Amino acid sequence: MAITDELESLRIQTLEAISAAASSGDLDQVRVAVLGKSGTLTAYLRGMGQLPKEERASVGKTVNDVRKIVEEALSSRKAELDAAELAAAIDAAAVDVTLPGRSQQMGTRHLINRITDEVCEIFLGLGYSVAYGPEVETDYYNFTALNAPQDHPSRSMQDTFYVLDRSGDASAVKGESDVLLRTQTSGVQVHVMEQQKPPIYIVAPGKVYRRDVADPSHLPQFTQIEGLVVDRGITFGDLKGTLDYFCKQMFGEERKTRFRAHYFPFTEPSAEVDVSCGICHGEGCRMCKGTGWLEILGCGMVDPNVLEMSGIDPEEYSGFAFGVGVERVACLKYNVPDLRMLLEGDMRFLRQF
Ligand code: DAH
Repeated sequence: MAITDELESLRIQTLEAISAAASSGDLDQVRVAVLGKSGTLTAYLRGMGQLPKEERASVGKTVNDVRKIVEEALSSRKAELDAAELAAAIDAAAVDVTLPGRSQQMGTRHLINRITDEVCEIFLGLGYSVAYGPEVETDYYNFTALNAPQDHPSRSMQDTFYVLDRSGDASAVKGESDVLLRTQTSGVQVHVMEQQKPPIYIVAPGKVYRRDVADPSHLPQFTQIEGLVVDRGITFGDLKGTLDYFCKQMFGEERKTRFRAHYFPFTEPSAEVDVSCGICHGEGCRMCKGTGWLEILGCGMVDPNVLEMSGIDPEEYSGFAFGVGVERVACLKYNVPDLRMLLEGDMRFLRQF
């Protein structure tokens, strides 16, 4: 076959292969097979030297013409394939804007945190500030400095989780070096009195721990808010007025309060405060066990010994203190029958608040 015929059939075959290429990868294979270093058309260019002189010019022109045609065909097919591939990629990544969105579940504040903040805000409104103390505490702050020396019966009122119990260690000063999970926030009173001179008006929220088995009215971990006022001329009247105001803010103006004598080692006199039942309004019902009253906090005048141990002169200053259980307030406010429900993390329950 004459060289020009060979080139003509190479041209036809190559153009067919180009239009048959289904992807830019296929097309590149065709390009390499024809125009690459050892491509079929390249071989003709390389072989020019062996041709008789008179044929070189016309064969050379034909080879160049074929190359130009092949290059143009390659570039226009490449443009077609690129456009198709781009369109396919766009299709594949398409977002169906008509699909309904997936809504994000919004959390809410936990009831325990909300009540804690509500209580603190009532006292912030009276000019108190908020103080914090450690949850891992020493025996001194949790008991001794609160007028409950070693072997004092009040220590057995609260079952304690000991972190480091040195009662068997003969070299330890008895009691002083025990480390425990605080059973009450009352120890924050001592930290504050050690760090700050009167006048003191603080509330101290935080977690406390007791070796109790969880049941409807007990939790091994719960939340308290301690209150402490130390100033000149503070009386039991101030205590009553303040806590009555607090109960009305928390539970409603129509609620009544009553103070019952009680015992706490760090206050003298001490009292427990009841608020009138919100369900029966004092008539007696199941919620208040027929009494018409619900117990909500402990309080009293700070014992002079406690002031003295923390470096405050009881001749110059007096004060009152109180401790509220947050979970209990939450349950009374929303008629929750079982404290454990607050900690179970059941969203159907928690979302109601
Ligand atoms: N710390 C007491 C308890 O956990 C509650 C309490 C009672 C705190 C009387 C006080 C108080 O500050 O004055 O049972």
